[in-house]
Amino acid sequence: MAQVTALEWRPQTFDDLVGQDVVSQTLKNAIKSNRLHHAYLFAGLRGSGKTSSARIFAKALNCEKGPTETPCGECSSCTEIRDGNSMDVVEIDAASNNSVDNIRELRELVRYNSSRDRYKIYIIDEVHMLSTSAFNALLKTLEEPPPHVLFIMATTELHKIPATILSRTQQFEFRQIPLYKIEERLKMIAEAQNLEIEDEGVSLIAQAAGGSMRDALSIFDQIVAASSEKISGLDVKSILGVVEDTNLIDLLGGLNSGSAERIFSRINELVHYGHDLKQVYDTFTGFIRDSVVMKSVTDPADLVVRTYGHGREHLSLLEELGISDLVRILDVLVSHEPVFRQASEPRYAFELVFLKLLEMKKLIPLEELLGNLRDLTALQGDEKKN
Ligand SMILES: Nc1ncnc2c1ncn2[C@@H]1O[C@H](COP(=O)(O)OP(=O)(O)OP(=O)(O)O)[C@@H](O)[C@H]1O
Ligand SMILES: [Mg+2]
Ligand SMILES: [Zn+2]
Repeated sequence: MAQVTALEWRPQTFDDLVGQDVVSQTLKNAIKSNRLHHAYLFAGLRGSGKTSSARIFAKALNCEKGPTETPCGECSSCTEIRDGNSMDVVEIDAASNNSVDNIRELRELVRYNSSRDRYKIYIIDEVHMLSTSAFNALLKTLEEPPPHVLFIMATTELHKIPATILSRTQQFEFRQIPLYKIEERLKMIAEAQNLEIEDEGVSLIAQAAGGSMRDALSIFDQIVAASSEKISGLDVKSILGVVEDTNLIDLLGGLNSGSAERIFSRINELVHYGHDLKQVYDTFTGFIRDSVVMKSVTDPADLVVRTYGHGREHLSLLEELGISDLVRILDVLVSHEPVFRQASEPRYAFELVFLKLLEMKKLIPLEELLGNLRDLTALQGDEKKN
């Protein structure tokens, strides 16, 4: 069942590609102005549209009605590319063809003309898997490819690509897809499949996907398979083992009010309900990170990892806490993460980190401190007078 929806809903046009506007706009412009590079590198997060974009671009270039920003999707070039059996658009998985011989073979192939279409396009997926000698062999082809040949390379690990290759390609960065765009697409797909799913469930799935549309759709499949007709937020929560927002707010509230009791009893409850404390720790770290973002930028919608329930309680806590308090909490959480990972008893490590956080007194801003001092001296002056 895994990933059926993801494959079924592969975007087929630039307009259908979600959250990668810079990429699609730049590629469309290149087609419009007929300014093509001979080697492209699509880099970025897993499941964010790299392979899909490579195929859309290939269709745009080879469509019988093209080159066009809006490939028809119906001609034989378009349908063959969609189905992965075009003679002129060759997809190579570098993970399993990573040797220098594979690339030499490719170099031979590149010399032949395209069999029918305008361009001969090689899509090299997972290109970071190539061996050093394979990269060197590729370099020669990238330097002087025949005019009708175009390379589109894709990778999730840009840092593994040699600089010599990078400098011969035009690079595109595939970013995390914003939460609300993932939610929109999930809703659209659920509706098309006549599935009822509560908004809360949709946003929980989107949050769990970490910016990857493929991950969102495979979680969606997993939840659909495990649920009855109408999918509630609660269904999604129990399948994902989500840490409820009240826990996060309460833990932060405990830190703000300096209440060890509140924190110990909340941890006790989390353990009692069988939560994985590592997951709670990561979720809480993300929550504090998002709180810092919410406090420091005017329009956090695109920048937060997720949105939180109990908004009013959260906001009033943020009003009471200074940004420096939040940054210090985040600092302790991030720096203790490896300690936490190694602990044989996660509960004690979890409690220890929170005890440390409790011990750090809230920072009092300088002006406030000076104000207090002034009040105090004034008070002392009054006392002397009396
Ligand atoms: N930007 C997007 N807009 C719409 N759907 C997307 C997008 N990115 C990914 N998807 C969905 O996820 C599936 C996989 O996407 P794709 O193969 O393009 O990802 P990728 O970036 O190449 O991933 P990988 O790094 O794992 O190769 C698509 O079939 C589609 O359903
Ligand atoms: Mg891919
Ligand atoms: Zn076409």
